[in-house]
Amino acid sequence: MSPTAPIRFLTGITTTGTPHLGNYVGAFRPAIEASRRPGTENFYFLADYHALIKCDEPARVQRSTLEIAATWLAVGLDPERVLFYRQSDIPEIPELTWLLTCLTGKGVLNRAHAYKASVDKNLAAGNDPDVDVTAGLFMYPVLMAADILMFKAHKIPVGRDQVQHVEMARDIANSFNHLYGDLLVLPEAQIDETVALLPGVDGRKMSKSYDNHIPLFAPREQLRKLIAGIVTDSRAPGEPKATEGSALFQIYEAFASVDETAQFAKAFAAGISWADAKQQLFERIDQEISPLRERYESLIADPALIEATLRRGAEKARATATPYMRQLREAVGLRSLASQAAPAKKDKQAKAALPSFKQYREADGLHYFKVVDAGGTLLAQSTGFGSPQDAGRAVAQLKQGRLDGLQDTLQLADGVTPAALTQALALLAQA
Ligand code: TRP
Repeated sequence: MSPTAPIRFLTGITTTGTPHLGNYVGAFRPAIEASRRPGTENFYFLADYHALIKCDEPARVQRSTLEIAATWLAVGLDPERVLFYRQSDIPEIPELTWLLTCLTGKGVLNRAHAYKASVDKNLAAGNDPDVDVTAGLFMYPVLMAADILMFKAHKIPVGRDQVQHVEMARDIANSFNHLYGDLLVLPEAQIDETVALLPGVDGRKMSKSYDNHIPLFAPREQLRKLIAGIVTDSRAPGEPKATEGSALFQIYEAFASVDETAQFAKAFAAGISWADAKQQLFERIDQEISPLRERYESLIADPALIEATLRRGAEKARATATPYMRQLREAVGLRSLASQAAPAKKDKQAKAALPSFKQYREADGLHYFKVVDAGGTLLAQSTGFGSPQDAGRAVAQLKQGRLDGLQDTLQLADGVTPAALTQALALLAQA
């Protein structure tokens, strides 16, 4: 990579839910800031193939795809500056998934967290380990590796739960490169320690699965109500309140400036009532979200526009994915048969290919060997030897690239010159 080559960042979001404030603070907002850094190239995609692993409701997958796409655009993603696309619009991704599947150890996938968690849960419940475990869940890391490797991404900003998957993508890329040549770029996970982990209304990490979340674009009144529901302690108005361990305070901090946060801490110490604190939090969040919410609402009302944006993004993404996939197919041997060297070009072929030896015994009781090129075309044929040891000695000598004394025992195939054979053997000796 030359020093001026841009660093490629890639982020995917699984399309199974409605974005909440935790997703905004932890993923959307930092990603938008990151996309504006000079010297970077940014890929954002809707991981709808991943959605099928955990969701079998077609309407929900479709709705979530629309909502997450509209969210990206509403929060400021500029589809002209970045690559913004839907995973299932890139047929090269499942194609690459298969190539990677064929070199991924089953044992490696056995250790993947998401799959292992399901198995452990089954075992703990005294069930068969495979209950409700689909092959899709098992293969999840390979599909994710294809997402990443397809676009030669360098850095993958993820939460801690996804680090292992990025490491697997790296290992898989290494295996591929080892087998087929250096074609895949090794990715790295990037964890941003400065990104806030937002608590939910019950104080645990905000998450759909805890049902403690606040939808990012909840209408104002619903937002106010949900904020009013944030769990606090029972200190009365006038009593000083602790900021430490207060979900309300932590959420405020994720939206406010350093100064505003310091002011809020002072108000806590001075005994602000929980009702007033909640009102201030509501106003602070709404101040940031309300312009985004307006954009979101007009975007979501025009699904055809979003569809067109995604299609254009896919076209841009495929402009690199399609030729790259062609290269990868070629590397593993999925090749045009017509491009194989024609038999008439034996001379040339002998130069390029590494020859090999085939020893055998004929009906006359003598031991022979043949020299064939990499494509299996005959280069030379030996005369008969009295013993396999004699034939073996001649083969061993030829493998060292030395023809001396053996010229008479070798009969060159049609179209093969002595120079071509010498060269082929020299290649073998070097290899
Ligand atoms: N597995 C990720 C998640 O659920 C989503 C995802 C799919 C992804 N493919 C990816 C993230 C590639 C980063 C890179 O959060």
